[in-house]
Amino acid sequence: MKKILIHFVQVSFIFGCGVLPGLASAADADGATLVQARRCYGCHQMTQALIGPAYTAIATRHAANKPVMEKVLARKIIDGGAGNWGVVPMVPNEQVSEDEARVIARWILNLK
Ligand code: HEC
Repeated sequence: MKKILIHFVQVSFIFGCGVLPGLASAADADGATLVQARRCYGCHQMTQALIGPAYTAIATRHAANKPVMEKVLARKIIDGGAGNWGVVPMVPNEQVSEDEARVIARWILNLK
Protein backbone atom coordinates (compact mmCIF):
# COMPACT_ATOMS: atom_id res chain seq x y z
CA MET A 1 0.00 0.00 0.00
CA LYS A 2 2.82 2.34 0.92
CA LYS A 3 4.51 1.59 -2.39
CA ILE A 4 1.33 2.35 -4.28
CA LEU A 5 0.96 5.60 -2.40
CA ILE A 6 4.53 6.66 -3.19
CA HIS A 7 4.01 5.80 -6.83
CA PHE A 8 0.80 7.78 -6.83
CA VAL A 9 2.54 10.79 -5.34
CA GLN A 10 5.27 10.53 -7.98
CA VAL A 11 2.75 10.30 -10.78
CA SER A 12 0.82 13.23 -9.33
CA PHE A 13 4.03 15.18 -9.17
CA ILE A 14 4.94 14.53 -12.78
CA PHE A 15 1.48 15.24 -14.15
CA GLY A 16 0.63 17.82 -11.55
CA CYS A 17 3.38 20.27 -12.38
CA GLY A 18 1.23 23.12 -13.45
CA VAL A 19 -0.20 22.96 -16.88
CA LEU A 20 -0.13 20.86 -19.99
CA PRO A 21 2.87 21.23 -22.24
CA GLY A 22 2.28 23.98 -24.75
CA LEU A 23 -0.48 25.65 -22.74
CA ALA A 24 0.11 28.88 -20.89
CA SER A 25 -2.52 28.18 -18.26
CA ALA A 26 -5.50 25.98 -17.50
CA ALA A 27 -7.74 28.73 -18.85
CA ASP A 28 -6.28 28.14 -22.30
CA ALA A 29 -7.34 24.51 -22.29
CA ASP A 30 -10.96 23.59 -22.76
CA GLY A 31 -12.68 20.86 -20.81
CA ALA A 32 -12.66 18.45 -23.72
CA THR A 33 -8.88 18.71 -24.00
CA LEU A 34 -8.36 18.39 -20.27
CA VAL A 35 -10.47 15.25 -19.79
CA GLN A 36 -8.36 13.62 -22.52
CA ALA A 37 -5.08 14.80 -21.05
CA ARG A 38 -6.04 13.85 -17.50
CA ARG A 39 -7.19 10.35 -18.44
CA CYS A 40 -10.76 10.64 -17.31
CA TYR A 41 -11.82 8.61 -20.35
CA GLY A 42 -10.68 5.42 -18.61
CA CYS A 43 -13.90 5.67 -16.61
CA HIS A 44 -16.07 8.27 -18.38
CA GLN A 45 -17.51 8.68 -21.88
CA MET A 46 -19.64 11.42 -23.37
CA THR A 47 -23.03 9.72 -23.58
CA GLN A 48 -22.69 6.22 -22.12
CA ALA A 49 -21.93 5.07 -18.60
CA LEU A 50 -18.68 3.17 -18.27
CA ILE A 51 -17.20 2.73 -14.77
CA GLY A 52 -18.41 6.23 -14.02
CA PRO A 53 -21.49 8.07 -15.32
CA ALA A 54 -21.60 9.68 -18.81
CA TYR A 55 -20.71 13.38 -18.90
CA THR A 56 -24.10 14.19 -20.41
CA ALA A 57 -25.85 12.33 -17.56
CA ILE A 58 -23.84 14.31 -15.00
CA ALA A 59 -24.84 17.54 -16.77
CA THR A 60 -28.51 16.55 -16.75
CA ARG A 61 -28.51 15.61 -13.08
CA HIS A 62 -26.95 18.88 -11.94
CA ALA A 63 -28.54 21.21 -14.51
CA ALA A 64 -30.72 23.00 -11.96
CA ASN A 65 -27.80 23.95 -9.82
CA LYS A 66 -24.95 24.89 -12.14
CA PRO A 67 -23.23 27.71 -10.21
CA VAL A 68 -23.02 25.71 -6.98
CA MET A 69 -22.24 22.42 -8.67
CA GLU A 70 -19.29 23.85 -10.58
CA LYS A 71 -17.46 24.23 -7.27
CA VAL A 72 -18.71 20.94 -5.82
CA LEU A 73 -17.81 18.89 -8.88
CA ALA A 74 -14.40 20.53 -9.20
CA ARG A 75 -13.64 19.47 -5.63
CA LYS A 76 -14.92 15.95 -6.25
CA ILE A 77 -12.86 15.61 -9.45
CA ILE A 78 -9.70 16.21 -7.40
CA ASP A 79 -10.62 14.40 -4.18
CA GLY A 80 -12.72 11.57 -5.60
CA GLY A 81 -15.88 10.45 -3.85
CA ALA A 82 -18.82 8.09 -3.89
CA GLY A 83 -22.49 7.63 -3.31
CA ASN A 84 -24.02 9.85 -5.95
CA TRP A 85 -24.25 7.38 -8.81
CA GLY A 86 -23.92 3.94 -7.26
CA VAL A 87 -21.55 1.90 -5.18
CA VAL A 88 -18.39 2.41 -7.26
CA PRO A 89 -16.32 5.30 -5.93
CA MET A 90 -14.36 7.76 -8.06
CA VAL A 91 -10.66 7.64 -7.27
CA PRO A 92 -8.93 10.91 -6.41
CA ASN A 93 -7.42 12.68 -9.44
CA GLU A 94 -4.74 14.69 -7.72
CA GLN A 95 -2.90 15.34 -10.98
CA VAL A 96 -5.71 17.78 -11.80
CA SER A 97 -5.14 21.34 -10.58
CA GLU A 98 -7.91 23.45 -9.03
CA ASP A 99 -8.06 25.65 -12.13
CA GLU A 100 -8.28 22.68 -14.43
CA ALA A 101 -10.97 21.06 -12.29
CA ARG A 102 -13.08 24.23 -12.53
CA VAL A 103 -12.68 24.34 -16.32
CA ILE A 104 -13.66 20.66 -16.58
CA ALA A 105 -16.63 21.04 -14.21
CA ARG A 106 -17.94 24.04 -16.19
CA TRP A 107 -17.48 22.16 -19.46
CA ILE A 108 -19.43 19.12 -18.16
CA LEU A 109 -22.25 21.25 -16.73
CA ASN A 110 -22.61 23.12 -20.02
CA LEU A 111 -23.15 19.91 -21.98
CA LYS A 112 -26.86 20.36 -21.15
C1 HEC B 1 -11.28 4.94 -11.83
C2 HEC B 1 -12.44 5.47 -12.49
C3 HEC B 1 -12.62 6.97 -12.62
C4 HEC B 1 -11.73 7.91 -13.10
C5 HEC B 1 -10.31 7.71 -13.59
C6 HEC B 1 -12.45 9.16 -13.09
N1 HEC B 1 -13.72 8.99 -12.61
FE1 HEC B 1 -15.12 10.44 -12.39
N2 HEC B 1 -16.38 9.09 -11.52
C7 HEC B 1 -16.13 7.74 -11.38
C8 HEC B 1 -17.23 7.11 -10.66
C9 HEC B 1 -17.35 5.64 -10.30
C10 HEC B 1 -18.15 8.15 -10.38
C11 HEC B 1 -19.47 8.06 -9.59
C12 HEC B 1 -19.17 8.45 -8.13
C13 HEC B 1 -20.43 8.52 -7.29
O1 HEC B 1 -21.28 7.63 -7.35
O2 HEC B 1 -20.58 9.52 -6.54
C14 HEC B 1 -17.59 9.38 -10.96
C15 HEC B 1 -18.22 10.61 -10.91
C16 HEC B 1 -17.77 11.75 -11.55
C17 HEC B 1 -18.47 13.00 -11.61
C18 HEC B 1 -19.88 13.28 -11.04
C19 HEC B 1 -19.83 13.53 -9.55
C20 HEC B 1 -21.22 13.72 -8.97
O3 HEC B 1 -21.30 13.75 -7.73
O4 HEC B 1 -22.21 13.84 -9.69
C21 HEC B 1 -17.68 13.87 -12.30
C22 HEC B 1 -17.97 15.33 -12.62
C23 HEC B 1 -16.48 13.16 -12.66
N3 HEC B 1 -16.57 11.87 -12.20
C24 HEC B 1 -15.44 13.70 -13.39
C25 HEC B 1 -14.22 13.04 -13.62
C26 HEC B 1 -13.07 13.67 -14.24
C27 HEC B 1 -13.04 15.09 -14.77
C28 HEC B 1 -12.07 12.74 -14.26
C29 HEC B 1 -10.64 12.90 -14.76
C30 HEC B 1 -9.84 13.90 -14.09
C31 HEC B 1 -12.61 11.53 -13.67
N4 HEC B 1 -13.90 11.76 -13.29
C32 HEC B 1 -11.88 10.35 -13.52
C33 HEC B 1 -15.01 7.06 -11.82
C34 HEC B 1 -13.87 7.66 -12.30
